[in-house]
Amino acid sequence: MSEVKARTELLRLGMELARHDRLYHAEDAPEITDAAYDALRRRYNDVAAAFPGLVGADDPAAKVGAAPGGGFAKIRHGVPMLSLDNAFGPEDFTEFCARIRRFLGLDEAALGFVAEPKIDGLSISLTYEHGRFVQGATRGDGTEGEDVTANLRTLKDLPLRLKGEAPARIEIRGEVFMTKADFLAMNAAQESAGEKMFANPRNAAAGGLRQLDARITATRPLSLFAYAMGEASGPVAETHWEYLERLRAWGFTVNPLSRRIADAAAFQAEVGAARAGLAYDIDGVVYKLDDLALQRRLGFVGRAPRWAIAWKFPAEQATTVLEGIDIQLGRTGALTPVARLVPVNVGGVLVRNATLHNADEIARKDIRIGDTVIIQRAGDVIPQVVGPVEGAPRGAAAYVFPAVCPACGSAAVRAPGEVVMRCTGGLACPAQVEERLIHFVSRGAFDIEGLGEKTIREFHEEGLIGGPADIFSRLPLLEAEIAVREGWGALSARNLVAAIAQRRGIGLARFIFALGIRRIGEANAKLLARHYGSYANWRAQMAAAVVIGSEARSDLGSILGIGPAIAEELAEFFAEPRNVAALDALAAELTIADAEARGGGELTGKSVVFTGTLETLTRPEAKAMAEKMGARVTDSVSKKTDLVVVGADAGSKARKAVELGVRVLSEAEWRALAGGGGGG
Ligand code: IVH
Repeated sequence: MSEVKARTELLRLGMELARHDRLYHAEDAPEITDAAYDALRRRYNDVAAAFPGLVGADDPAAKVGAAPGGGFAKIRHGVPMLSLDNAFGPEDFTEFCARIRRFLGLDEAALGFVAEPKIDGLSISLTYEHGRFVQGATRGDGTEGEDVTANLRTLKDLPLRLKGEAPARIEIRGEVFMTKADFLAMNAAQESAGEKMFANPRNAAAGGLRQLDARITATRPLSLFAYAMGEASGPVAETHWEYLERLRAWGFTVNPLSRRIADAAAFQAEVGAARAGLAYDIDGVVYKLDDLALQRRLGFVGRAPRWAIAWKFPAEQATTVLEGIDIQLGRTGALTPVARLVPVNVGGVLVRNATLHNADEIARKDIRIGDTVIIQRAGDVIPQVVGPVEGAPRGAAAYVFPAVCPACGSAAVRAPGEVVMRCTGGLACPAQVEERLIHFVSRGAFDIEGLGEKTIREFHEEGLIGGPADIFSRLPLLEAEIAVREGWGALSARNLVAAIAQRRGIGLARFIFALGIRRIGEANAKLLARHYGSYANWRAQMAAAVVIGSEARSDLGSILGIGPAIAEELAEFFAEPRNVAALDALAAELTIADAEARGGGELTGKSVVFTGTLETLTRPEAKAMAEKMGARVTDSVSKKTDLVVVGADAGSKARKAVELGVRVLSEAEWRALAGGGGGG
């Protein structure tokens, strides 16, 4: 679907949804079936997820349960969301049953239990009114959670309306989680986009659900199992098992392994054996007394019910010998130490490699090659090295983490405050260049028609292109060879060469973005382009900014929205001669247009600094006003500053402006200027 089509579609669906919401909620006169409503809502979510830029936060159909001050609104749970007591073996379970019998005054009577795998995700509470999903909250501290209604609406497993009869108001609880396969695929995608990666499916699910923007949640593969009851305005079931059946009938997914059991130990063993092969992580089995009347009599003690227990699996551990440490290179240049092990069976899975996380972890645990180590598979899919086995013979020497990239020899560095070592040879590193090339030709970058991910991979693997410059210097010469490749022809080869020729001219912002430097996304590339104006100037200033403490470096770091951390990424890129060589080779093939100053505003090209406390404007507001008029907003005052706007309690920057003879405006004067210039 094109962006234009998506925009119309979202507008149409948004209006339609708003109308049906009003008919349903305010007028009690729905015109369409629940299924038709759900289909509309899903269609809206799908389009919104595919074109996240098109949905405004104020779009009624995309309403987010956010508090006015940012973050999520708080919701008090009608019934607290509690935790469970744990059992670690059959004795604990027997004691749990004995406690129930003592409490209820039952002697030998058999107790009926329902067993459910204990999903390692995060629990949520879902409120339905007249069968319609109206509110969803995280567990929070158990008493008060966060309103994640809009986010939950995007989950494929969440029925927006309950099928069939339901009490007027009912609260249902369950677990949001991510399958192991979805987790691995999502992490791979996050990595190639240079985005945050998650340690395990649980963290990934929590991160996905707790997004302030529901459109991001919609792109995360979250799943949901329903398993418990909160408040209900009317009777629902007499046993927990009946309750689970009602959940299924309403349209929820109930874990298919759940069942009434007679022998807990046997069920524990059965699920334990199946555990490694399940699609999702579990850390035990929850046993719940089936009879709800008995559950009510038993009630709670402390923060846990007397009628349920979580029987945990033992952590899956084994010992083996650490044969070596390999450095694995991620597609964004992260150097991850991986343990090469004498293969060992850990809970049914043969483990040959395990993560050592990072250099700090290796040092902290003093892990040496040759050590006998403990390996563990916990909630994490990837096995980990816990540490050396105490008392076993030790490897000889402490491990020294490499200072250069094993793939290209570029310097490996570690950003302050980060634990990850990264290769700085972005454009020159064979392990990264394929991803860089794919980014390079992508939509917001060079956007070369006919040169998509698949073609790039093929061309790179077969040696047609080694770096971005080769797209321009070599591919046009290979037209005849490309024409005879499988899936190509004379016409498509000619079209490709023409598309390449067309992109020899490019704007500075796109060019900078295309380089794929860490943290330089489209927005930052625009800031840089606007600040430096021309490629030649940018290139020269970046080369100078490599020197810490240089004027160029502090100028770079003071661009509003850039800051020292991003400045450092740029400096690292330019400090690596391999990158600079690749950059120069590329630039030689191109005509890079100067950044256009923003549309004719009266401050076009001017540099503005805000200082002190503004009373009628927030900083982002003031900045947006200035940028709308074509100005650049920077953080520090220098000779090059054109205008300084001083709020209350302005200090050194205001003094410096006066000293340098820079024009100074009060907040009111600024408003007058901006008001006239169409700011806000
Ligand atoms: S019932 C009062 N059932 O375990 C009983 N919990 O340690 C409330 N969990 O916060 C929970 N699978 O996040 C229940 N089938 C299941 C579960 C389950 C996972 C989690 C849930 C809860 C935690 C309690």
